[in-house]
Amino acid sequence: MSEVVATPMPRIGDVAPDFTATTTHGEITFSEWQGDDWVVFFSHPADFTPVCTTELAEFARRNEEFTERGVKLLGLSVDSIHSHVAWVQNIKEILDIQIPYPMVADINMKVANKYGLIHPGESSTATVRAVFVIDPGREIRALIYYPLANGRNVDEVIRLVDSLQTSDKYVCATPVNWNVGEKVIVPPPKTEEEVQDRLNSDYEKLSFYLMKREL
Ligand code: BEZ
Repeated sequence: MSEVVATPMPRIGDVAPDFTATTTHGEITFSEWQGDDWVVFFSHPADFTPVCTTELAEFARRNEEFTERGVKLLGLSVDSIHSHVAWVQNIKEILDIQIPYPMVADINMKVANKYGLIHPGESSTATVRAVFVIDPGREIRALIYYPLANGRNVDEVIRLVDSLQTSDKYVCATPVNWNVGEKVIVPPPKTEEEVQDRLNSDYEKLSFYLMKREL
């Protein structure tokens, strides 16, 4: 039996590790399945557990909002494909929700180890609640980690996607608690000339280094 070796945890700016795996939508090779889309790749600790069920269902309810943003959802846990299939059926029965996105069956932790999803201080057998936001160039753009007992906030994942896509499109940053439609942050000046340009602009000026503008 070949030993699975944990690689260093991928970080922001790294290329998302590629893999081939069995999913509830058949076998996929991540890079091919992604195509030219963004991906929100998220792990949960275990099938048939209460917090995970609420998360899976909420990602399913909000799937259309991800699709509108050019984002594919992909789930994963250290469970068998039979468990995933049975859980998807159970969620349909108890919540009347069809899970529209694939879930990776990672019983041998091959993908979990590539993505650094086992945090032994929390659990050596289950993946933590991780979210990787991966752009169309397969670059990891953001990471979120939550522990086993606490569910994530899907509003925040969508807000994060909006922030990243807005920063890319308009070459700007987004302030705390930013939401679509609100002013964005002008990148701080790097030259004296840029300071003057900003001071002469109609931006909202809080300081020479903190200016906001409408999109
Ligand atoms: C849950 O999803 O409810 C859960 C999973 C693993 C550990 C604790 C809670």
